Amino acid sequence: MIEVVNVRKSYRSGDRQVEALRGIDCRIAKGRFAFIVGPSGSGKSTLLYLLGGLDRPSEGSIRVEDQDLTTMSESDMNVFRRDKIGFIFQAFNLISNLTAIENVLVPFLPRGLTPELKQRASELLTQVGLGDRLDHRPYQLSGGEQQRVAIARALIKDPILVLADEPTGELDSRTGDEIYRILRRMQNVRQTTLVVVTHDRRFITPDDLVLEIQDGQLKSDGLVEAQDDLAEAEIGFEPRLSRSNLLEGKDFIDDGPN
Ligand SMILES: Nc1ncnc2c1ncn2[C@@H]1O[C@H](COP(=O)(O)OP(=O)(O)OP(=O)(O)O)[C@@H](O)[C@H]1O
Ligand SMILES: [Mg+2]
Repeated sequence: MIEVVNVRKSYRSGDRQVEALRGIDCRIAKGRFAFIVGPSGSGKSTLLYLLGGLDRPSEGSIRVEDQDLTTMSESDMNVFRRDKIGFIFQAFNLISNLTAIENVLVPFLPRGLTPELKQRASELLTQVGLGDRLDHRPYQLSGGEQQRVAIARALIKDPILVLADEPTGELDSRTGDEIYRILRRMQNVRQTTLVVVTHDRRFITPDDLVLEIQDGQLKSDGLVEAQDDLAEAEIGFEPRLSRSNLLEGKDFIDDGPN
């Protein structure tokens, strides 16, 4: 699903060259929950942004579902990102003068809104527990609620891949649990592939793929796991549920309070 081959990324700042990624190889099968972990400055966000086509590697190639991000034109890349990738950031990146439902609909604003889209946005917000907050603006929402709006915004396009950069970094642990419950449900029900950067390993389960990055390189155990994953991909990773079962409306209802 995602194939990263010998990816390097260097930044030039002034006369200094920073080698943020120094030869990354990994493969992430469809429907996987993958975590990128490692110390501050090790290159986690850089890798995540490259996977989402927000930036291009200096060397190497990245394929996401048979699309080669490294050779795609700028405009194809924009369309790919807009239609296929859901981004969730640590700082929720909501637009402050728009309501919750308008923020969810932001990806579609350039193309115009339809009643169906508005209905879908409202359903998604209901599914993340914000059915009674549709017309609240970000300052009228708690941090966890804002993050759930950001998740609904990432989901409305039914992305094949969701990329999250420390999605619970600014939330208390209970709210963090809730955010991960929503993300897990996405993985299980919608077969979405998730790649999440985190400093908090307590959300990682034994089934997850862990890519441990240090100094711009994957540590060996990360590589071993990535290889296991490759084997799994080659024998055919069984989807838990087909994508045709998606979007029936009931796919995302929460179990209620834990
Ligand atoms: N636009 C840029 N220009 C120059 N250097 C950059 C740029 N973006 C990142 N870097 C450098 O690349 C390295 C990797 O940065 P990155 O943001 O990927 O780290 P990270 O692992 O996400 O860290 P953190 O956990 O603190 O978020 C760092 O040394 C950083 O200073
Ligand atoms: Mg980062």
